[in-house]
Amino acid sequence: MTYFKDWFNENYPDRADALDLLLQYKDAIYEFPANLVGTKDPDEFDILHLIDCLEPCNWLPQVEWRGRWLDLGSGPGLPGLPLAAVQPELSMTLLDSRAKPLHFLQEFLSSYKDLDITLVNGRAEDCGHNKAHRGKYDGVLARAVELLPVLVEITLPLLKVGGILVAYKGKKIEEAENALIKLRGEIVDSVNYKLPKLEHERSLVVIRKTGPTPKKYPRSVGTPRKFPL
Ligand SMILES: C[S@@+](CC[C@H](N)C(=O)[O-])C[C@H]1O[C@@H](n2cnc3c(N)ncnc32)[C@H](O)[C@@H]1O
Repeated sequence: MTYFKDWFNENYPDRADALDLLLQYKDAIYEFPANLVGTKDPDEFDILHLIDCLEPCNWLPQVEWRGRWLDLGSGPGLPGLPLAAVQPELSMTLLDSRAKPLHFLQEFLSSYKDLDITLVNGRAEDCGHNKAHRGKYDGVLARAVELLPVLVEITLPLLKVGGILVAYKGKKIEEAENALIKLRGEIVDSVNYKLPKLEHERSLVVIRKTGPTPKKYPRSVGTPRKFPL
């Protein structure tokens, strides 16, 4: 806990409001009557989840953290909620197909009405053909969701042309080559780093949408995973 506070204050001086919010968020996760995250150790949660979710701000200096963003497969709000907490110019949509983590978020966010966060219960494949979401986002985040070729197919339709996907993965990015051609995207950055203290290896990849998405993508629910491009 002290480690996280020190790390946070070093990276975000004068953001006591965001630190307080993140600590309340962690307490709420552990008080919720269902297991929302893998780790049972709250100190590990600080590094494996809170710090990990915020790392792109340190490793991707070219990313502009503002505008309309969507966190695909957000579960209990990771990484979209911690990022929205520290980046006040983000308008964040948290999307997940499961109702339980969204119930948790609804309850938690009812005490934080100032945060610009919208919750959507649904599938990315459906949102990709819905006028309210298709081509509407400046950025999409995805952490611990699907392989990269699948992610490219289900996230790029949601982006504006020129918008970026920040994926918390970077291994085997060459597997996404075909999906990038079909969906019109290009890799603009990829970094490897280690989480502080635990030294776990992590990777990030940034993909920019370079042209409009062909109408047929994304394919219907489940198809991108069953038959990756
Ligand atoms: C392993 S969890 C990761 C949760 C969170 N991003 C994190 O880092 O802890 C994957 C989540 O993605 C959601 N998901 C997977 N595919 C999805 C899709 N096509 N549309 C919407 N949600 C999806 C699942 O419901 C699940 O909650």
